Order: sequence, then C-alpha cells, then structure tokens
Amino acid sequence: MVNSARYAWLKEELASLDHAYYVLDNPRLPDVEYDKLYRELLSIESSHPEWVTSDSPSQRVSGQASNLFQEVKHVVPMLSLNNALEDSEAEAFDRRCRDGLEVNDVEYSVELKFDGLAISLRYERGLLVQAATRGDGYSGEDVTANIRTIRAIPLRLKGSNHPDVIEVRGEVFMSHKDFEILNQRAIKDNEKTFANPRNAAAGSLRQLDPKITAKRTLSFYSYGVGQCEPQSIIPNTHASLLDLYESWGLPVCTHRAVVKSIEGLMGFYAEIGQLRDQLPYDIDGVVYKINSRAQQEELGFVSRAPRFAIAHKFPAQEALTTVLGIDVQVGRTGAITPVARLTPVTVGGVTVTNATLHNEDEVRRKDVHIGDTVVVRRAGDVIPEIVSALREKRPENAVAFVMPTQCPVCGSHIEKPIDEAVARCSGGLFCAAQRKQALLHFAQRRAMDIEGLGDKLVDQLVDLNIVRTPADLYKLGLMALANLDRMGDKSADNLIAAIEKSKSNTLARFIFALGIRHVGESTAKDLAKYFGDIHKLMDASEEALLKVNDVGPVVAQSIIHFLNEAHNREVIEQLLAVGFTLEVEVSEINPAIQGKTFVLTGTLPTLSRDQAKAMIEKSGGKVAGSVSAKTSYVVAGEDAGSKLEKANELGVAVIDEGQMLALLNS
Ligand code: IVH
Repeated sequence: MVNSARYAWLKEELASLDHAYYVLDNPRLPDVEYDKLYRELLSIESSHPEWVTSDSPSQRVSGQASNLFQEVKHVVPMLSLNNALEDSEAEAFDRRCRDGLEVNDVEYSVELKFDGLAISLRYERGLLVQAATRGDGYSGEDVTANIRTIRAIPLRLKGSNHPDVIEVRGEVFMSHKDFEILNQRAIKDNEKTFANPRNAAAGSLRQLDPKITAKRTLSFYSYGVGQCEPQSIIPNTHASLLDLYESWGLPVCTHRAVVKSIEGLMGFYAEIGQLRDQLPYDIDGVVYKINSRAQQEELGFVSRAPRFAIAHKFPAQEALTTVLGIDVQVGRTGAITPVARLTPVTVGGVTVTNATLHNEDEVRRKDVHIGDTVVVRRAGDVIPEIVSALREKRPENAVAFVMPTQCPVCGSHIEKPIDEAVARCSGGLFCAAQRKQALLHFAQRRAMDIEGLGDKLVDQLVDLNIVRTPADLYKLGLMALANLDRMGDKSADNLIAAIEKSKSNTLARFIFALGIRHVGESTAKDLAKYFGDIHKLMDASEEALLKVNDVGPVVAQSIIHFLNEAHNREVIEQLLAVGFTLEVEVSEINPAIQGKTFVLTGTLPTLSRDQAKAMIEKSGGKVAGSVSAKTSYVVAGEDAGSKLEKANELGVAVIDEGQMLALLNS
C-alpha cells in the first residue's frame, strides 16, 4: 500500500542522506541502500504524479523547459572584494578599519577565497526558487535548472522558521578530483578538456542542458547574504550567519575562524598557506570580513567593494612564459616523457625552468609548439605542468614537437603500444637512463633507504660503468668511491656504511625496491605478507599471485614478466648472496582502529607528532590535518587551538595521549 506519509518520509530521508554525503562528507548508507530508497520514491511518484513537489530529490534534473540564462536583477548587488597582494596591504586594511570605527581592536571572521563563480541562491520560506550568476553585479543570469543538479545544495532548507526570502550567496566550484574525472572522460570521448577547475565549473554551469550539468559534480560553499525579508533574521555577526546556514543544511567550509587584530589575520593567512596544497579544491587567498554586522554597516562600501572586507591573495600558481625546446626524459620503466624547457619564470614564489607535458597525446591535445607562449602551473610539490598554449601568440617560426623514434640515451627503439598513452624505450637495463632510475628507486628512503646515494652520484657510477645493477652497489670499495667528484673520504665511509646497513631490511621493502612495474609499496607489503619468502615469490604461478590481496591480472602478469627475465633473477640471487636478511613484518593492525581518522593538536606530554602518527598508522588508522565531521578522534595536548574548538563544535570525540595509547593497545 502506497501511502503519502511514506512518500514524505522518503523525500526527507533522501535529502538528509544527500546532506550527509555531499555536505558533511560522511555517507550514512551504502550506495545500494540509497538507490533502493530512491527507486522506491520514483515508483511512488509514477503512480502518484500529483504528489510530486519541486523539492523532491527526483526533481534535481527536471528535463523541463527552463528559464535558463534569462536575466535576473539583483535587488542587493553582488559586489566584489578589494585585494591585498602584500602583507602591508592587509595591515593597511586593518588600520583603516580601526580608524574608521575609532576602536583599538577589531574582530574579524576569516574564511577561504574559493576559486570558482559567485552564485546567489534564492530561498522563499525555505524552498529554493531561483539561482543566479553574478553577471555584472547588478544583474546576472538565471541558472536555476543547472544549480538544482548540485546535490550539495539543498532544495529545501532544514529546520523551520525560515525567512520569507533569503538570498544565500556563495561560490560554485569543482574539486580537483571531479575536475580530473571530467577531463579524463573528455579525453576518452575525444572532446575538449578544460584548462582548470574554475573554467570547468563555469563551463558546466553554462550548459544549456541541465542533464549535462548533472553529470559533472560541482560543489558549493556559502559565504554571504543578499536580499533578506525580514532583515531581523540575519544574525549580528558574520560568523553566526555562517553557523545559521550550516544549521539549515547549507554547505559552509570548516576552514573558518574568528580572530582579532592583524596578528590573527596573519596567523590565519599563514595557516591556510600551509594547508593550501592539501585542499581538495583551488583557493586563491583568504578573505577577512569584519565580524559585527553593525560595524560592517558603519564602514559601508566604496565604489563596488565593501570597506569591511578584503581578499588577501596567495601568490599565483600560474604564469606565462615561452617554450625554448621540448626534450624527452626516460623514466625507470623506460617511459618517455616530453618535457618543455622554458624561459625561467617565477610561479608561486619558485623559479620554474621545466614543465612536464606527460606524453605525446598531451602535446598534441594542448597543441604546444616550440616557440609558443604557454601558461605554466605549479601546485604544491607536483611537477610544474603546461596548462595551455596561446595560439594567437604563436610566432611564425614555431616548430611542432616530433616524438623521437630512438631513445636519446641508449639509441634503442621507442615503442608505443596502440592501447597505451605512453611510449617506452625498449632498452631495459641496457639503457643508462633506466639503469640510473632503477638504482635511485632501489636506494630511495621507502625502499632500501641508502642515505647519500643521490642522483649526482648515481650519474657518475653509471656513466663510469662502475655500477650496472643494484647488486654492484654492495661490491663498491672505498677507493672507487673516494675518487668520484664531490666525494671525500668521510662521505665515502658514510655511504659504504649506509649500503651495509641496508642489508638488514624487510622483505616488503626489498620487493618494492626491485622496481617491478605496477608493484608499489602497498602491493609489495601484501606480497611479502602472503609469500613470506623471496624464493616463494620467485616461483609463484599466476594463480598463486592472483590470490594476493589487490593483485589483479595486470599486476600478476607484470610480476611474472619481471621474474621470467633471467637477468632479474640473477640480480636477486646476487643481492641475497651478499648477505641480505629479510624480515617479514607481522601485521599490527588493530580492527578497532582500522579506517578511523585521527587529528593531532597541541603538544602531547610524551610523544612527538611523528611518533603518535606512526603509532596510529601502524594500527591501521589515518592521521588528517584538519577536523571535519568525518574525524573519529581529536587527540589534544597542551595549547590545543582551533582544531579542539572545531571538534567540540562538531561533537567529535576528544581524547588525550593516555586515552589514545589505551585505544591503540585495546
Ligand atoms: S564575499 C561583498 N567571500 O571573490 C563581498 N567572496 O572578488 C562579496 N569569493 O565575486 C564577496 N570566496 O566570487 C566572498 N569567502 C568569500 C569568497 C568570495 C570567493 C569570490 C566571489 C566574489 C569575488 C570577489
């Protein structure tokens, strides 16, 4: 029996599940269970079309003719922010605020400056009725149909006592992950890719067909208010406005705080500057807003920007430069990567002279010629890359890139399987470039951890033919080493000691160090755990390999291929012959900890951050940098700050070091 109460419950339950999934990042039900409820809702709606309301989750993509792109006048204009590019400009802003208000100290609400598009969401008595772009600030375009497809945006606000009208202002953007997915799909379908997440978000909102927008995941954060009736509903401070939005189920970024004076502003700027590269979306700065609405009104606006707020920008992550040439680099597995040599340019405070072009297809797709003016982008520790080439600036003598047919290092033939994007040098360990990379991989910290064996040294050892395989490292004598460039007796001694020390290691690290394609650290651990002995792995059949956790046919084939090479088996035997002792680590995963997320804050009484982190990870837990609804425990020490406050706000369990140790040992 279909009943309307069940229908009403389903609508509410699905909206609440969407909120948990898209806003809180904390799914309450597995996808299959969600789908069951959703199908039940659809089936009720097909027998009772008269019950369907615009806030039903089924109405996110209406498929009906819409007012897409009609002009919308903003009753309260959507203004922009003035920018502070230097610290001194932020200081001047704080001074102006204090002088203007005639006070000694001002309280600010501080938040992120999201790099997307400003949107105004109009809710009437809690129901989303219209969404508009900023346009020129006074009138924008109606994008309601497209905005409704964003599952993070509630179609109906939670709770009760909503104002007759409220325009929630905020930013629509695309996360790095969703941007990646969109571009990968575009490449597969031979369509144009987007240069950055901002363009992708803008392009998605400007789709004439909301069904296309619905296929692209967009995100939203609220940060302001437009028209509101009655006005009295707006809280006295900006921070409480954001809290009110949160209680209505609107997405509000957790990286926000209330601070005082210039020290507070600079502290937040520095904190977010550190965090920027780890955020899953782009920001281009932080925004400081005077917290008190009364003080905001007192200061008012100058031309098109408020006097009470400012955007403090981070150094740009993109810059323009020219391509001097395109070389190719040979990686450990022979992968040939085109790399653009650039006229040096400063990007985000670092001088960039090279940028990767990933592979030949990418060079074609981005249409990069030697001589072109290009946009280079640098984000965090990632290798700088070329985003796009400016066709209109291409000089007449620009030259297209031609993929060499022979390896520039060893002269071997370059092969490119039809179904792969990457071309490879077929020289294997005959190729000096591959040999060097294989040695560096073997010696790296996460593998054999041979301190002091860096690229300059490996270059010399390979070029002088002193070392051909990892096993040769263990035959190195002091004499041979001390004669190398930049190598004194002391460093040679230290290196020999580090090489000697690497002989006692774990089986997992040893397997990883071999550099088998597709065998990363985690697969190496699984293989070590399963076989427990290197010879058992060397003799394993495909069938046996497939039984190992996370090993599929591609990985299994790659292992077999590697171990079928007589040369590789010989190197392993030689390594064992120099006296390796390979220990198998017993798993210390604690089922009570596995999958749990911890955040460490403040100074713990006995453990350092790194020690606590290592202990949590060893037990199977994760350590995150910031508190969200997903956090399982906040471990608080002395002088714990905003993370502790956040935990209390979100109701996340707070424990001390002792309680953490008890939990890990439980
Ligand atoms: S407040 C009257 N807060 O930056 C002030 N804007 O240059 C209105 N933006 O068009 C804007 N993050 O697209 C504000 N936390 C934030 C923001 C933010 C990004 C964008 C927004 C606006 C532009 C202003």
